[in-house]
Amino acid sequence: MKRLLPFLFTATLFFVSCKTTKTITKTTNSKAINTADTQGGMWIPSLLEGMNEEDMTALGSNLTAKDIYDINNSSLKDAIVHFNGGCTSEIISSSGLLLTNHHCGFSQIQAHSSIENDYIKDGFWAKNLEDELPNEGLFVEFIIRIEDVTKAVLNGVADTMSASEKKSLIDKNSRQIQKNTTKSEWQNTKIKSFFKGNQYFLFVTERFEDIRLVGAPPTSIGKFGSDTDNWVWPRHTGDFSMFRIYANKDNKPAKYSTDNVPYIPKHYLPISLDGVEEGDFTLVFGFPGRTNEYLPAVAIEHITKQYNPSNIAIREAALKVMDEQMKKSNAIRIKYASKQAKIANYWKKWIGENLGIEKSNAIAKKRDFEAKFTKTLKEKGLENKYSTILSDFDKLYDAFSDINIKRRNFIEVFVVNNELLKMTLRTYKMDIAKDDASFEKVRKDLIKRLKAIHKNYDVTVDKGVFESIMPLYTNNVDVSIYDNTSFTDLEKALKLIEGNPKEVREKLLNDAAYQYAKPFIEEFYKTINPKYQKLKAEIAAVQERYMNALMTVVPSKRYYPDANSTLRITYGQVRGYAPEDGVYYKPVSYLKGVIEKYIPNDYEFDVPLKLRNLYNAKDYGQYADKNGKLPICFLGTNHTTGGNSGSPAIDTNGNLIGLNFDRVWEGTMSDMNYDPNICRNIMVDIRYVLFIIDKYAGAERLINEMKLVHPKK
Ligand code: ARG
Ligand code: GLU
Repeated sequence: MKRLLPFLFTATLFFVSCKTTKTITKTTNSKAINTADTQGGMWIPSLLEGMNEEDMTALGSNLTAKDIYDINNSSLKDAIVHFNGGCTSEIISSSGLLLTNHHCGFSQIQAHSSIENDYIKDGFWAKNLEDELPNEGLFVEFIIRIEDVTKAVLNGVADTMSASEKKSLIDKNSRQIQKNTTKSEWQNTKIKSFFKGNQYFLFVTERFEDIRLVGAPPTSIGKFGSDTDNWVWPRHTGDFSMFRIYANKDNKPAKYSTDNVPYIPKHYLPISLDGVEEGDFTLVFGFPGRTNEYLPAVAIEHITKQYNPSNIAIREAALKVMDEQMKKSNAIRIKYASKQAKIANYWKKWIGENLGIEKSNAIAKKRDFEAKFTKTLKEKGLENKYSTILSDFDKLYDAFSDINIKRRNFIEVFVVNNELLKMTLRTYKMDIAKDDASFEKVRKDLIKRLKAIHKNYDVTVDKGVFESIMPLYTNNVDVSIYDNTSFTDLEKALKLIEGNPKEVREKLLNDAAYQYAKPFIEEFYKTINPKYQKLKAEIAAVQERYMNALMTVVPSKRYYPDANSTLRITYGQVRGYAPEDGVYYKPVSYLKGVIEKYIPNDYEFDVPLKLRNLYNAKDYGQYADKNGKLPICFLGTNHTTGGNSGSPAIDTNGNLIGLNFDRVWEGTMSDMNYDPNICRNIMVDIRYVLFIIDKYAGAERLINEMKLVHPKK
């Protein structure tokens, strides 16, 4: 929000200084601070003409809006693929070769792993197309085109309507628009809300479901540094894995079949071998998940002082148990690898977010902004329309904060961290099924879920987690449920839910874990969640009004919609940063740093022998930089968030230079408060990726598919 200030109070001045900035940047390539106001934001690729194009040029880009997004010709967007609904990936060959992060492909890598074929530990490289491994359930999605459908979606919507009337009309309009959209039969559509419901866009998409695993480095490269280095700079992780899209003979989406063939893309990214230097332009193109840049101060205060700390405490307690057991046993390590990584990831993110908000004094700055906002309302005579917004927020957050935490704690305990409780939660749905048909439907689903949970279940770990997190949720902690339940054993659990509804319910009466959990679950569904949903909807309505107020009272072209898992670009430059007084972080790390961090046999910092040998021999092939060093990761000022994992970092000419995978710790506050001084995204240098594929894994066939270029020569 800080970045809105100049527009509000010094609008003319700003535009003047923006122009001068441009020349300064171009002629002397001086410090980021000059172009700071052109950075930040996650922009809609179909709306880049004008201001965004100018910003990009100021930052050193040769790309036009049409190079990035064009519906009549192939453009960069045709190489950007939403990976499994959560991450981003990009096409890097004419045969559908897909690059994403190691942590994005991690559950697939894990699913193919066993103690005998430990791809987590040793990596995996398909020798030829036949060796590439299919992945049930994995899908990727292309964006064919984007259309502004705001008018049609809001047709007939009036301020006088209640929230639910509004919603049902919007849903109805949206269905009608989708019905009328011209598209091919294999394509889909979706409509998403932007600017808190002030704008709507339609997306025509294409979904592919035959996606095969092609290659992954060992965890000691792909997840090097693990939790200790996660969200931290300097970083030395080769966080990548490779997949391939398969299509039917007509190059169209198809379910998995041995008859399918590699997909031929409309566009794939050439790969630059020339690397980056501080000040170089970087474009990150992907599917950011969720941000909240327009929150009031009271919300940020709630999140950082109450909500984050309670989540952090529960996860910390769970992780202590998991980490200890995973170090003791290989079987447990494999079973819990993916789960532990997910839990640890946000645990550490929330800590960093709090740090960043505190360091940047974000709450006080927001309060200042709000005071000025109120003043401007008065000056513009708009008080009547908007003046209750901030006090409405205060009242609502006051009512919301306890219930929000209570609800989240329930989810942390019953969904995220403890699996016995998760199984009882899923079973509850069966217990309350209204008729035989829905009972059967829930049972079918439950059988699947129980099997999935037990595939990676260890009762010692789970019991330990229960003992350690439950006191943070309730005074009623009863570990003995683990000795008197069928859920901890798959066969017994499946038996428990066999029979007609009456029989199953009777058996559940004798299951200690189910009986223990049921009152908590009922409390959740009957009181906690309804109360939460009601307040959340009220807050959303005020947030919508606030967004609208900001855009009318403080008009600016620089408002960008919060992330909502739709395709966006964010542009910036390669930049180091100064996290504290006397410290400056350089923007590039090298293989030397991997070796410096090396701890033999450590679960986080081990380095494979082959990589150490390549380092000793300085055998980097064409992947070294001009000083003969092998770059590993680099920093940029791109405004990214969860979901941007696997997003390509693209140079000024549209070539791939890196793979986005993380942010610096304090910079994770960019989800609420992007600040160009301390927010940095972390990318793995594409030359390290190529070096690992080529020199480490010897997977030359993959290098041969790619188009390697020298744009700087
Ligand atoms: N922090 C990055 C992200 O949010 C990387 C996570 C994977 N790495 C890890 N050590 N868990 O996804
Ligand atoms: N690692 C994150 C992800 O999985 C991206 C990093 C971030 O949140 O910035 O999407």
